[in-house]
Amino acid sequence: MSFAALWEGLLPVGRDALTGGYRRFSWTPADVACRSWFTRTAAERGLRVDTDRNGNLWAWWDPPGLAPGPGSLPRGPGPGAVVVGSHLDSVPDGGPFDGPLGVVSAFAAIDLLRERGLAPVRPLGVAAFCEEEGARFGVACLGSRLLTGVIDPATARALTDAGGTTLAEAMAAAGQDPARIGPDEDLLGRIGTYVELHIEQGRALAGLGAAIGVGERIWPHGRWRLGFTGRPDHAGTATLGERRDPMLAFASVVLAARQAAADHHGLATVGKVVAEPGAVNGVCARVTAWLDARCPDEQTLWTLVDQILAASRDVAGQHGVALEVTPESVTPAVDFHPGLRARLTASLAARGIHAPVLATGAGHDAGVLAARVPAAMLFVRNPSGVSHSPAEHAEPADCEAGVLALAAVLEDLACR
Ligand code: GLV
Ligand code: MN
Ligand code: MN
Repeated sequence: MSFAALWEGLLPVGRDALTGGYRRFSWTPADVACRSWFTRTAAERGLRVDTDRNGNLWAWWDPPGLAPGPGSLPRGPGPGAVVVGSHLDSVPDGGPFDGPLGVVSAFAAIDLLRERGLAPVRPLGVAAFCEEEGARFGVACLGSRLLTGVIDPATARALTDAGGTTLAEAMAAAGQDPARIGPDEDLLGRIGTYVELHIEQGRALAGLGAAIGVGERIWPHGRWRLGFTGRPDHAGTATLGERRDPMLAFASVVLAARQAAADHHGLATVGKVVAEPGAVNGVCARVTAWLDARCPDEQTLWTLVDQILAASRDVAGQHGVALEVTPESVTPAVDFHPGLRARLTASLAARGIHAPVLATGAGHDAGVLAARVPAAMLFVRNPSGVSHSPAEHAEPADCEAGVLALAAVLEDLACR
């Protein structure tokens, strides 16, 4: 099936009619509908579908002649499986491409290999990882972190969404047993290579005149929750001098974050804030804000974050406000496997595809998996350069180029 036909099938799911943005938060009905789309799409292709203990989805194209592995693991001996994929969840009002482009392109690339009469000689899997954006439970790449054991299962089960629902409750409500979540060495041990195709979340490829890029590294990055607690009071009677207003401390921190990012040539963003109880005519009791910080190297990241947190403590003290800082997820720098990267570049070059090498400040499951298996990324040009927004865009011709590139890589890695 063509990329366009596959793409159209998923496009309406979880799109907000008013904003045009996607709200595919993990384990909500929109996410469950995306998961059903995955299962259906895999089944239509005769792929063997499995949900792992962490809720990540897998569709396996078993090579002919290999004996079934234990349970639903990829077939054949050893760590040979080649896996491609990405995620289906979104940020609030995200664009259509971040995540789904990688999953849809994976199925389209499989169709292309079949049209060419090719078949894998080692297991070929398509994966869709859960809660990559951390939009509902706060921890980015939660599904791949659980799989690789970099988050404790009990901690993960207790994560809550904005309404107080725990991950355990949300998974159980969607029919998934939360008691089983945790590292899966059997599955990981069978994976030889992970390749994630993703929309570029910047304009580098547009500037270079290239449709496809190869990932070089991911900047270290993280998110910190800042809770400011003051004293709720009446907006019309509390004098300025007696107020303990968490909003003022918060406002100073937003400016301090911007200054620290400029000072250290990094990025710092406060994209989410909740003021409680939220009376227009009241000094609020609490402000919770989320800081996202990213830098080219870890030392600079920690310098930048320390500067922002020190400023936060200072302003909290000045305003008589208590401050609680909670790191939600911190991801070290990732350098993608040089040998695999070179192999991707060579298989693309053999098909006449020039793919420049790019670093990115965006996080990906490929970055988490890279700690355990050789991992690589392909990027597809985004002419708007915008992402985490409905304005995110890729031209249909570039999406097709992405499928051709992924098929070239899969032919090399899985079919020879
Ligand atoms: C995911 O898109 C991230 O970079 O936060
Ligand atoms: Mn994203
Ligand atoms: Mn993504």
